Amino acid sequence: MATSYKELGLVNSKELFKKAVDGGYAIPAYNFNNLEQIQAILQACVETKSPVILQVSSGARKYANSTLLRNLARGAVEYVKELGCEIPIVLHLDHGDTFELCKDCIDNGFSSVMIDGSHHSYEENIALTKKVVEYAHAHDVTVEGELGVLAGIEDDVVAEHHTYTEPDEVIDFVSRTGVDSLAISIGTSHGANKFTPEQCKRDENGILIPPPLRFDILEEIEKKIPGFPIVLHGSSSVPQEYVATINKYGGDLKDSIGIPEEQLRRAAKSAVCKINIDSDGRLAMTAAVREVMANKPGEFDPRKYLGPARDELKKLYMHKNINVLGSANKA
Ligand code: G3H
Ligand code: 13P
Ligand code: ZN
Repeated sequence: MATSYKELGLVNSKELFKKAVDGGYAIPAYNFNNLEQIQAILQACVETKSPVILQVSSGARKYANSTLLRNLARGAVEYVKELGCEIPIVLHLDHGDTFELCKDCIDNGFSSVMIDGSHHSYEENIALTKKVVEYAHAHDVTVEGELGVLAGIEDDVVAEHHTYTEPDEVIDFVSRTGVDSLAISIGTSHGANKFTPEQCKRDENGILIPPPLRFDILEEIEKKIPGFPIVLHGSSSVPQEYVATINKYGGDLKDSIGIPEEQLRRAAKSAVCKINIDSDGRLAMTAAVREVMANKPGEFDPRKYLGPARDELKKLYMHKNINVLGSANKA
C-alpha cells in the first residue's frame, strides 16, 4: 500500500526553498547509505537547527536495500524529536533516471525527487521531466530537474567535460516541464577529483587553487528566472586534512581537489538554495576509520570505528551548515 510522506511527518521542498532563496542561504542535501550516516546528518542538523534534505541515490538503494533504507528515513522525524528539535526533513531521490524509479519513491514516502534527464537530448529531457512532474505534483511531491552536464562520474555514467547550462534554455525548460527547482552545471563535478593539478594555480604556499565556478552563467540564469530555486550538485570541498589523514594511515588518494568553501558560500547567498554534498562525508568517515584501524590494530568491534566515523561526519556537517551553507538556525 502506498505511503504518503505526509503520514511520516516529512515535508516537500517548496516552502524551504522559498525561504532559502529569500534568506540568502542553501539547504544541505546530504547523501546516506547506512545508519551511521543518517544519525550523523540528523544530529548535526538538530544541533545547528538546520532544515535538511536526506538524499538517497540509486546506488544507495542497491547497497542498502530500498525497503530498509526508506524505513531508516521514516524514523527520522521521531528521532529528531527525541533529540529535542523538530527540524523540517525532506526525503529526496538523488539522480533518479527513470519515471518508474521516481514513481516508486513517490509511492513509498519520498517528499521530493530528482529526475536527471541531463544525459538525454533536450527534448527527451523535457518529456521525461514533465512526465515525472505530472505524477509528483498529483501527490504534492516536489521535483528537481537538471539542465547541462557535470563532468565526472554519476553512478555508472562518466562525462569527461562539463556542458555548462545554457541560460537561453532555462525559461523554456522550467515552463514546459513545471519543475520546482533546477540543477545547473557551472563547474562543479561529482567525486573527490574535481580538477586536475594542471587546471589549478598555486598560491604563495604552494596550495592548489582550482578555477572559479562560472558565476557569470549563474547570474545570467538568475536574470532569466528570478527567484527560481537553483541546485548545485558536486559541491564537496575535499578538505585537505582528511586527504592527509587518509594518506598518512595507508590510503592512496591523489589529485583530490574540491570546490573552495568561499565559492559555495557565495553561491548559497544567491538563488542557489540546495547544495549537494556526499564525497566530503565519505572522506571524513574514511579518515576516522583509518585512524582507528592504524592506532588500535586489536580493535574489531565495528562500533569502535564506525562510532568515531559518525562523530567526524557530524562535526563536518555542523561546520558546513554554520560556515558554508548558512542554514544554521533556519529550521
Ligand atoms: O551524485 C552522486 C552521489 O554522490 C551519490 O553517489 O551514486 O555512489 O551513491 P552514489
Ligand atoms: P560530491 O561528490 O561533490 O559530494 O557531490 C554529491 C552530489 O552531487 C550528490 O548528488
Ligand atoms: Zn549529484
